[in-house]
Parts: sequence; structure tokens; C-alpha cells
Amino acid sequence: MRKITIAIDGYSSTGKSTVAKRLAKALGYVYVDTGAMYRAVTLFALRNGYVGGAEDNFDALVASLSEIDLRFRPNAETGQSDIYLNGENVEREIRTLEVSKYVSQVATLEAVRHKLVEMQQKMGAEKGLVMDGRDIGTVVFPDAELKIFMTASPETRAQRRFDELRQRGEQVTFDEVLKNVRQRDHIDSTRKVSPLQKAEEAIEFDNSNLGLEEQFEAIHNYALDVI
Ligand code: C5P
Repeated sequence: MRKITIAIDGYSSTGKSTVAKRLAKALGYVYVDTGAMYRAVTLFALRNGYVGGAEDNFDALVASLSEIDLRFRPNAETGQSDIYLNGENVEREIRTLEVSKYVSQVATLEAVRHKLVEMQQKMGAEKGLVMDGRDIGTVVFPDAELKIFMTASPETRAQRRFDELRQRGEQVTFDEVLKNVRQRDHIDSTRKVSPLQKAEEAIEFDNSNLGLEEQFEAIHNYALDVI
């Protein structure tokens, strides 16, 4: 079987990563969560006070980008990859609502995108990869053999994210989460550099009313058709 590149893009909390991880496992492919990379840069910015304080300092963030070392390393317990920021496993910390509040602003910065896109393209040079994000089919791998664009209603997505955060013990309200999902969608789809948009040839996949199994089967079949 030939190895291909699979790009899964879409709005926040559409369940891209859940399906992407399963698909990668089924095909024996590498899975890359590009959202985790933008989140790790945001965590770095928060820790250094470049965002989250009285005033944002994006210039200082951009000036210190060379100090940021990002890596994915396998986690033997979960069988998945965790993201490391300058040698520290930050997989858990990047998923908080605090990081979600600032990540889309950080992701508008051209220098940040440039650095991360370059890393992503290197990771996918050998193909045999499922990558999820916002600009994978449009910018990172415009030649990907299979492109999926995931959608679901904002309420469905906020409910999923809310359940996930509560399960992790975060004290958040549904309204807060819904507001964040809407805000990120807006910033992500209206930013100047690589806005979130469906690649022309991408398959639009609305999963509002689909369970995980059905989603996986449908997308797995699309992949098998191409491979
Ligand atoms: O996928 P996730 O929701 O974790 O992504 C967090 C944020 O990172 C998105 O809301 C978006 O602002 C940014 N992002 C991006 N481009 C990507 C992946 C994520 O701009 N390829």
C-alpha cells in the first residue's frame, strides 16, 4: 500500500483529533496534532507574561521564538505522543481554558506560523501521516492526497469541550466554553495569514449527529479509497 498524507482541518472542538488519532493507528501512520504546537507556544507566552497580563507583547514573543524548542515524544502509558516545551511535558497544561483563551491571537502571528509550518512540513516529509489543524490542506500540505474538513454546530462542539474540561476537573461553565469556541472560530477564519477555510477539494464532513465509530468508519473508508 502506498503511503499518503491525510489533512484534517476544521473548526474548534469538532473532534478532529479523536478521529485523526484512530485513523493513524489503523493505518500505521504518524499522527500530528498541530493545535498542540500553537497551544505550547501560547503557554510559553503566558508564562513569560507576553499575553494574559495588562497588555499583550507580541513583539517580545516573536523576538524570543528561537528560545522555544518543541518536540513530540511517545507516552508509553497512553500509547500516544505528548508535546514537550523546552524539555518539559506540557501535554496537560496546554489543554486548559486559559491557554484556549489566548491561543487564537498567538496563532495570528506570521512569525509563529512560519516556525510551526516549517516544523510540520519536516515531520510530514516521508508521508504516512495524519495531521490535524486549521491550515493543513490549504498551506502545510496543499498536495495532501486526502483532505477532510470537519464541521459541527457550535453548541455540539462546546458541549464536547465542556464535558472534556469538566472531566479533567476544570471549573468552567458551558457559556464560557461556548463563548471561547465562537471567539476562536471567528479569529481563526478571519485572520490575515492562513485563515481557516475549506480547501477546494476537501471533503466536508459534518459530524454533529455521528458517533465516534461512524465517523471513524466513514473517514477510514475515504482513506482506503485513496490508498
Ligand atoms: O486544534 P486546537 O483547538 O487545539 O487548536 C488551538 C488553536 O490553535 C486554534 O483555535 C487555532 O487558533 C490555532 N491553530 C492554528 N492552525 C493550526 C492548528 C491550530 O491556527 N494548524
